[in-house]
Amino acid sequence: MTIHIGAEKDDIADVVLMPGDPYRARWAAETFLTGAKLVHEVRGMFGFTGEWNGHRVTIQGSGMGMPSMSIYANELIRDFDVSTLIRIGSCGGMQEHVKVRDVILAQTATTVSTPSSTIFRELNFAPSADFGLLHKAYHAAEKIDVDVHVGGIYSSDTFYDERPDLNKEMQRHGILGVEMEAAELYTLAARYGRRALGVMTVSDHLLTGEALPSDQRESSFADMVEIALSAAFA
Ligand code: HPA
Repeated sequence: MTIHIGAEKDDIADVVLMPGDPYRARWAAETFLTGAKLVHEVRGMFGFTGEWNGHRVTIQGSGMGMPSMSIYANELIRDFDVSTLIRIGSCGGMQEHVKVRDVILAQTATTVSTPSSTIFRELNFAPSADFGLLHKAYHAAEKIDVDVHVGGIYSSDTFYDERPDLNKEMQRHGILGVEMEAAELYTLAARYGRRALGVMTVSDHLLTGEALPSDQRESSFADMVEIALSAAFA
């Protein structure tokens, strides 16, 4: 048990999927896992463990933003010794060719800062995905006929942004989408030698203002869960 994850060590699987929203964790566990069991609900940030195709997996909410992700990822790695952490979530599209409902596999995650920035001092660390997971996720996405993009994303500290110039620079440098968690997850995975990947559905678009209709959110979320599970266990 840790401060924020009130589960026994054996309750947490070696592979953990991490949606930002704990209700999404519950939905994904009930929809995709057999024998899903709520293993803790500290602060309402549910963790569920069950089986997918005979493999044990935990689905744990990360909350929103890198400080929250940092807490859960640190405890999962350092106390529960998990090997594989896959963020499943939404992002805002940043390029014309990236459409709402498409899936982005985040090869890299650029930031202004992360909770880890203080240890890097003058270094600009390049947080990047585990290539094995990325490779498998790409093939899984192709198999279920999802429009998938692989490339850089921007992990922002703000949803309500007062610096549109930063988004413009990201767009000018080919960044595909913006979200708020992946860079810290990748940084922690690098520090502790674990596998990490971010699988993101484009839920809204910064260029067009378009947003995914609520009746389509569930099916696109299902695509992500399937891609993440296939990547972890393929
Ligand atoms: N900004 C940050 N995070 C997001 C966005 C966004 O526009 N859309 C979904 N997650």
